[in-house]
Amino acid sequence: MLDRDNYLGQQIGNYLVVEKLGSGQFGTVYRAQNKLVAERIVAIKLINNKYVNSQEECERFLQEARLLLRLRHPHILPVIDIGEHQGIPYMITEFAPMASLRHYTARLFPNQLPLQQILTILSQVGQALHYAHQNAIVHRDLKPENILFNAKEEALLADFGIAIEMPVTTVKNDATVIGTPSYMAPEQFQGTVSKLSDQYALGCIAYELVTGQRPFQAPDFLAIAFKHAKEAPIPPRQLNPSLPIHLEQAILKAMAKERIQRHADVAAFIAALDTPSAVSLTPPPPPPLSGPDLVSLTPSFVTTVLKGPSGPTMLGPTEVTIGRAAGNTYVVNDPLISSYHAVIRPNGPGYTIFDLNSRNKTFVNEQIVMPQTGHALKQGDKIRIGNTTFEYMYDISNYSTAAGTIGILSDRDKQLESQQRLEQLEQLVSSGKLGQTSTDFRANVRKSA
Ligand SMILES: Nc1ncnc2c1ncn2[C@@H]1O[C@H](COP(=O)(O)OP(=O)(O)OP(=O)(O)O)[C@@H](O)[C@H]1O
Ligand SMILES: [Mg+2]
Repeated sequence: MLDRDNYLGQQIGNYLVVEKLGSGQFGTVYRAQNKLVAERIVAIKLINNKYVNSQEECERFLQEARLLLRLRHPHILPVIDIGEHQGIPYMITEFAPMASLRHYTARLFPNQLPLQQILTILSQVGQALHYAHQNAIVHRDLKPENILFNAKEEALLADFGIAIEMPVTTVKNDATVIGTPSYMAPEQFQGTVSKLSDQYALGCIAYELVTGQRPFQAPDFLAIAFKHAKEAPIPPRQLNPSLPIHLEQAILKAMAKERIQRHADVAAFIAALDTPSAVSLTPPPPPPLSGPDLVSLTPSFVTTVLKGPSGPTMLGPTEVTIGRAAGNTYVVNDPLISSYHAVIRPNGPGYTIFDLNSRNKTFVNEQIVMPQTGHALKQGDKIRIGNTTFEYMYDISNYSTAAGTIGILSDRDKQLESQQRLEQLEQLVSSGKLGQTSTDFRANVRKSA
């Protein structure tokens, strides 16, 4: 019988599989050589057979892989080709001869990489991540194993998007928890993931590189989820007193529990690592514990919501993507909607919607939205994508104020909101829902916690 998880010696496409490089959560990676040009070496990742339950799931994986073919950046591991081998989807990428960041740190243990090298790696990975974010792709599973090195010892970020689709097909539970717990943002344990979760993961990697230890360690998944949600990490300079203070501050900001407390984006995080002046040397003042409900008319505090089929989504300081793929902020299961269909970006006091070159286009009040120019949204605008309609509006129902006109979200409201999120996590934990992951995921958690 065919051994579905061992492809040594087999021919896949134009390549002969010569060596098994390792296995991860979703598949196995092999070194392979071109059958006509032996010196042309590639890596082939085959998805584990057990994850491919139907033609539809295969097609979904391939659809995501097609998207990744478009990602071209000097610090992203290039995807060369995709295909199907005996019904199993595979992805061919460049071979990274210098192995992963995990191998680097393991080889050096208990010593650490020189600080300059750490900063170079973080900068290269950060640039790659920022580029992907600008293309509406969230990594979701950033960890040292997915940072590889080419022959020139430059960092290459790998496995973009793999984690976006696969767990949707394999981990079916309320809190669809995906990722590697040591690097997962608090919100990710609740099934919410965004670019800011990637930034948190990069912060955790930076922490580990400069201190030699992961920010949170615990024997099981729930304990680690709690630590990410509630515990402050030991300040890095307590573990490495020679670390410049601005690096400690930049890393801790990236690892803030609340998304809005993190750097505006990964580029800002990298800039803060680079220049001491980019980070304020005095911590920001804490929000007032009590005070007037109506604190300011700053546009970002106006509660703007997008009302869709699964209820309202509050728009905040970061962009919101809409599409079928699980990596979106607003996931809509509508076959007429593309994987990454549209994006709503903050634009001064309001928001602008852009179409992401979707197959069936994006409409506002039945007018086509152009991918380049977008459409500045106004109160009451009806956004239609596929068969799904969203309404863009200021939410005056939830946050009525003294003025009674438009909704203003005070600092106190924001504190209450974060408190509610924490309570939700506690409820999830106490009801056991956070633990209801598939056996495979638990196994992986044990492996990588
Ligand atoms: N393109 C590549 N070139 C060289 N080695 C690679 C390449 N891709 C992966 N590897 C090696 O194969 C190992 C397994 O990779 P894989 O992506 O399957 O698992 P992982 O990174 O540990 O977890 P995950 O499934 O979450 O990505 C990696 O740790 C890495 O050492
Ligand atoms: Mg990987």
